[in-house]
Amino acid sequence: MGARLIDGKALAQQVRDRLAIDSAAVLAKTGVKPGLATILVGDDPASHQYVKSKQKACEAAGIYIDDHKLPASTTQAELLSLIEKMNADPKIHGILVQLPLPKHIESRVVLEAVSPDKDADGFHPYNFGRLVEGNPVFEACTPKGVIKMIESTGVGIEGKRAVVLGRSNIVGKPLALMLLQRNATVTICHSKTKDLPGVCREADLLLVAIGKAKFVTADMVKEGAVVIDVGTNRWTDGKLCGDVDFEPVSQKAGWISPVPGGVGPMTIAMLLANTVESAKRMAG
Ligand code: GUN
Repeated sequence: MGARLIDGKALAQQVRDRLAIDSAAVLAKTGVKPGLATILVGDDPASHQYVKSKQKACEAAGIYIDDHKLPASTTQAELLSLIEKMNADPKIHGILVQLPLPKHIESRVVLEAVSPDKDADGFHPYNFGRLVEGNPVFEACTPKGVIKMIESTGVGIEGKRAVVLGRSNIVGKPLALMLLQRNATVTICHSKTKDLPGVCREADLLLVAIGKAKFVTADMVKEGAVVIDVGTNRWTDGKLCGDVDFEPVSQKAGWISPVPGGVGPMTIAMLLANTVESAKRMAG
């Protein structure tokens, strides 16, 4: 392997250790313990696992968790009423509504109901707009984690050619905006992009969130590039894998993040960071 590994797990632990200190400092100074409400609707096993990991990390960092697990039959009105309660609760500084929601609930309506001041996931259109404007408050956790991972390499973002594969509202689009804000030259690729391998080969920073197992192959990567893999897929052998064909790409890239142990732990660390920052803002 030629590439150096971007160890998301180790980096996330550093962030979490610092947040535990910050969170204790907020408590000592203001008497306020940072608080996160987690809301999970239905019984999707992956979502339950994600929320459990997020709660465990929060508790380890001294963040109070208000856990709400609701049955799949919950109505949109019931969910909105719980969110209203959390919006008004002074012990709560962040609200996480785990996605996906059951089909009978409109995610857009729910995400807009979360107070923009407690939007720990950064999914509210107000916070998305603040990012577009270049003046963000809450930033979405996964792209924020990807930026920290790029920064950890020391390669730098300003002036670099950044190619983002994928244009989702929770990863691709906000990540492209965060890179733009840091003065990268940014291209977003998607299923209709012509000569996608050719565009990828121009990337100094290749950020992959396309949701297809081992989609990025070595011939799509510039020698020495920073490659960050946001994907989580199951390969035919049942093992977890990313959107990047790790072994061959790591022969060519300068830096590469693994799956698992890459972006996933950083997403969780950024949720903690958003909650502690929110508590600091609210405590004044
Ligand atoms: N589902 C998949 N990723 C996420 C995330 O980052 N936040 C929430 N709330 N739900 C998700």
